[in-house]
Amino acid sequence: MAILVTGGAGYIGSHTILALLEQHHDVVVLDNLVNASDIALQRVEKITGRNINFYHGDINERSDLQKLFSQNNISAVIHFAGLKSVGESVKKPIEYYKNNVSGTLVLLDEMRRAQVKKFIFSSSATVYGTPESVPLRETSRIGGTTNPYGTSKLMVEQILQDFAHAQPEFAITILRYFNPVGAHESGLVGEDPGGIPNNLMPYISQVASGKLQQLAIFGDDYPTIDGTGVRDYIHVMDLAEGHLKALEQIHKQQGIKTYNLGSGVGYSVLQMLKAFEKASGRSVPYKIMPRRDGDIAECWADAQLAKEELGWTAQRDLDDMMRDTWNWQKKNPAGFQP
Ligand code: NAD
Ligand code: UD1
Repeated sequence: MAILVTGGAGYIGSHTILALLEQHHDVVVLDNLVNASDIALQRVEKITGRNINFYHGDINERSDLQKLFSQNNISAVIHFAGLKSVGESVKKPIEYYKNNVSGTLVLLDEMRRAQVKKFIFSSSATVYGTPESVPLRETSRIGGTTNPYGTSKLMVEQILQDFAHAQPEFAITILRYFNPVGAHESGLVGEDPGGIPNNLMPYISQVASGKLQQLAIFGDDYPTIDGTGVRDYIHVMDLAEGHLKALEQIHKQQGIKTYNLGSGVGYSVLQMLKAFEKASGRSVPYKIMPRRDGDIAECWADAQLAKEELGWTAQRDLDDMMRDTWNWQKKNPAGFQP
């Protein structure tokens, strides 16, 4: 039996297949490489000494899925494939709904046809919109997303609720990630945003490496510890291990479950910057700029449910996140480009 990982060549997917292979699972990856490189998969094979059965294909293509399901004995699907840039989603809503919503519908339909009944979905803390209070619990209000990316995640969550109701023999787990950062400790795989990064950590590390000049901090007048935005950053290997725990549980599970995967701790932009400077020994020049549209002041998880039901908690701290981010950046200044 093998696990199908859609989007397995991407940032979180590549770290998760690494953890799966190390735990002796067989892995099949489906990825159209729209935002990834197959070098990531080669590196994972090198680290683990195991083979990945890679299909270069698209979740929207029924023929790709049918071929894959007929050629492999798949026990569960971990579904990372999708587009994830908030700014781009505002400019290209059709592409986002097609990949993130329609693509998931096609995948679920083909899973049903192939009688594969275990499904783990990558959702996001973005579904909480502007939090009424923190920490965020799985029962906190969802909705109020302000961009097509966030709305696509919310729509898929709703579709999964309806699907689980209609197909009680399916087991479905929705994982709401907070802010994934860091890289595998080898420095062989990590986040390769391509172009100018939108997210904080890749931006900071590219300023430290001299690729970018200075960090723009989007607002210092939020009602937070130092006025800058506060988020729950989680090491990508902790996140990967969260998927392993969810997979263990899904074989005993009935119906649909939703879990926050976060560290439960919030750090401000300035705290992140200082911690990175300490870990890297580099200074990171910055300038305070106006707030970014759609940003919230603060957000962090209550991750108690994942602890109680999955037996999962984040193990790696801020220093680990910074050390591994810098290790990856130093060793791969051009990402996966040779
Ligand atoms: P990523 O872009 O690195 O990985 C996504 C992968 O999916 C890429 O390898 C891409 O080539 C592939 N892909 C995209 N569309 C596809 C399609 N139609 N068919 C096949 N493959 C396709 O992103 P990531 O950071 O690894 O995120 C993985 C998932 O987690 C995404 O669904 C994302 O929305 C979600 N998520 C990410 C974050 C984050 O901060 N990185 C936070 C919350 C949720
Ligand atoms: C962003 C997305 C969110 C998505 C998540 C994926 C927005 C509004 N939200 O979350 O939907 O799920 O990425 O990881 O885009 N910051 C700066 N300067 C920068 C970059 C970021 O000051 O150059 C600040 C932001 O204002 C924020 C914090 O750093 O306070 C984190 O930002 P980011 O890494 O983009 O993540 P989120 O905004 O939390």
